[in-house]
Amino acid sequence: WPLHLPWIDAIERLKRERGAVIMAHSYQSPEIFHGVADVTGDSLALAQAAADCDAGLIVLCGVHFMAETAKILAPDRTVLIPDLEAGCSLASSITAADVRALRAQHPGAPVVSYVNTSAAVKAESDACCTSANAVQVVQAMGADKVIFLPDRFLGAHVAAQTDVELVLWDGRCEVHEQFTVPQARHARERFDAMLVAHPECPPEVQAEADFVGSTTAMGRWLARERPQRVALITECSMADNLRAEFPDIEFIKPCNLCPHMKRITLPNIHDCLLHLKHEVTVPTEVARRARLALERMLQVGR
Ligand code: 13P
Ligand code: SF4
Repeated sequence: WPLHLPWIDAIERLKRERGAVIMAHSYQSPEIFHGVADVTGDSLALAQAAADCDAGLIVLCGVHFMAETAKILAPDRTVLIPDLEAGCSLASSITAADVRALRAQHPGAPVVSYVNTSAAVKAESDACCTSANAVQVVQAMGADKVIFLPDRFLGAHVAAQTDVELVLWDGRCEVHEQFTVPQARHARERFDAMLVAHPECPPEVQAEADFVGSTTAMGRWLARERPQRVALITECSMADNLRAEFPDIEFIKPCNLCPHMKRITLPNIHDCLLHLKHEVTVPTEVARRARLALERMLQVGR
């Protein structure tokens, strides 16, 4: 990326001076994911990396809940996010008061919250999960009924794989909910492509797919199946980032961009390192309770 090289060089220099580690989610643009990140992966991998990190400064290239998660798991480190407005429609679909109301309606049912939630919601939860380990975390609760929030479509996907009764919330990912059955069929029929969908997609789109799985599970499926052509029904940058790893696979779009993930750019990463902004903090008591839920998620693993 010749146009990006001056930014990449400047960021690398500042990163060394500051002793920083840059962590980037798989939905970050390739010039960030391949150009400046030290650690890359899905939200579970980034949470684990933050928990294990020895650098004093973490720059989280992803959305706000990911930076909060890093701060909760690495409380002695400074965690910066290049744009504080990088939010998530799932995280903003539910508040801590909503979780308390659900508990009152379903006494005794444990709460499993997707990691795509605010620290305040995590603090009201018994355990967190990501799409990579949602079924395992629900089963680890050892209960007949579990409150699972906030993603309704992921919840339905999990419910189909376990006997546990799930109480769901009506949160949706504004990116994945837009995919449609005609788009999926077009990719298959016009391009003879295999279809791989994220579980945040609507159920009827998931039903069209050859494989449904989390960000990391998609990569593992590609490594195993080696399709000639594939359409990843998920955020656009996934295909761009995986193309380097699988040069023999042809990636067909449909894809949608996450406007929140795309708020992170090379210029604002540079600004973030230069001016040490924007620091993400979590109130001590909220962090203490949220950490218990996150640690349960990490204990279950993948
Ligand atoms: P992963 O948990 O697969 O990283 O996904 C996070 C996300 O935001 C999906 O839209
Ligand atoms: Fe949130 Fe969807 Fe963007 Fe992921 S893709 S950060 S779930 S809005």
